[in-house]
Amino acid sequence: MVPVLSNDLLLSAAHQFDTPLYVYDESCIKHQFELLQKTFYRNNASIFYACKALTNVNILRIIQKLGGGIDCVSINEVKLALMAGFGAEKIIFTPNSVGLDEYIEAVEYKININIDNLSLLEAFGNHFGSSYPVIVRLNPHIMAGGNLKISTGHVDSKFGISIEQIDDIKNIVLKTGVDIKGLHIHTGSEIKDIEVYIKGLELVLDICKNFSNLTIIDLGGGFKVPYKIDEQGTDMITLGVKVAEALAKYEALSKRSFNLWFEPGKFLVSQCGYFLVKANILKHSPSRSFVGVNSGFNHLIRPMFYDAYHQITNISHPEGSLNTYNVVGNICETDTFAWDRELNEVRPNDILLFSNAGAYGFEMSSRFNSRARPAEVLVSNGDLKLIRKRETFDDLLQNVVL
Ligand code: LLP
Repeated sequence: MVPVLSNDLLLSAAHQFDTPLYVYDESCIKHQFELLQKTFYRNNASIFYACKALTNVNILRIIQKLGGGIDCVSINEVKLALMAGFGAEKIIFTPNSVGLDEYIEAVEYKININIDNLSLLEAFGNHFGSSYPVIVRLNPHIMAGGNLKISTGHVDSKFGISIEQIDDIKNIVLKTGVDIKGLHIHTGSEIKDIEVYIKGLELVLDICKNFSNLTIIDLGGGFKVPYKIDEQGTDMITLGVKVAEALAKYEALSKRSFNLWFEPGKFLVSQCGYFLVKANILKHSPSRSFVGVNSGFNHLIRPMFYDAYHQITNISHPEGSLNTYNVVGNICETDTFAWDRELNEVRPNDILLFSNAGAYGFEMSSRFNSRARPAEVLVSNGDLKLIRKRETFDDLLQNVVL
């Protein structure tokens, strides 16, 4: 069972640090990390946290101390990873749509580099020859993921080099001498169907015959965590068994073996995060009841952006009778966190809890409507520690030239 924080502790966090507030549970991150290690113990797989989900350096340090690696998509994420103490060999750089200049900077940090388009692979090869082995991101032509916006491995996606362009990769290798040390795929986010991973793995294994210096297969992230109460996440036990079987079969036939890497984001931090807001107003119109809260899609964009479902609980009034509400934010355009949601009767000033808010919550927040970003708190061994201060009006002006 994934550890959960008690409503009492979350209420006291809301009172101590005010709302809106993000709260993260260290013991839950540890639990999820260890679960991944257990899942893939047969292959001694390496776990690289896709830190785009949540980059607070205090969170990165937790994963670093657990022995994890980190997957970064920008040089700033790489700098945060270095600040958190990750060694260069534990960092992967997996950007897209960047120029050669960013790759050259990444080489200076001596980190693992993942290249996802042909022209850049050629430019990189021309620049570095065989001196800096790289991983290549492939597009497996597999449609998978919770919705189209978070599906990345289908044929029309901007990510990766198509599996139909392997000959082009080989030509670049011949022409420039670039050394390919690994193959990577990331098919999408919220993938429940285990067959998607096995199909992706088998596709990659089939492509391995084209490259003699490979040591790494990176299968990306995307494990599904349950957002709704009755929903199931990816069946990790079966996944671990099936991945091991597919690899063992290939290794027996080919007499080759690889280091297996994964890059989970949501799986490590989503369920470990909570978002607390306060009910400001109740509005009963002829057609429905609204709860207006002191936050909006500037702080948690997933419902508006992906139609994502986050469980909402009225932790101030858990014994209240059940009513149906639209939970709306304070941003001055349509800003709906939940439609027709049953909640225990909400009264002004009640604290509402959004679950599963650790991944892509604070990280995708903005200052839209000139509303400052929330604070972040980490719960470690029962203690509440502020790990990011609430922004103030002065922060909004920080880079404005007056
Ligand atoms: N590796 C690569 C190359 C990725 O692009 C991603 C996520 C991951 C790993 C981690 O995927 P995860 O395990 O978190 O599913 N903002 C969206 C999710 C976008 C995911 C982007 N790439 C959301 O809130 O649902």
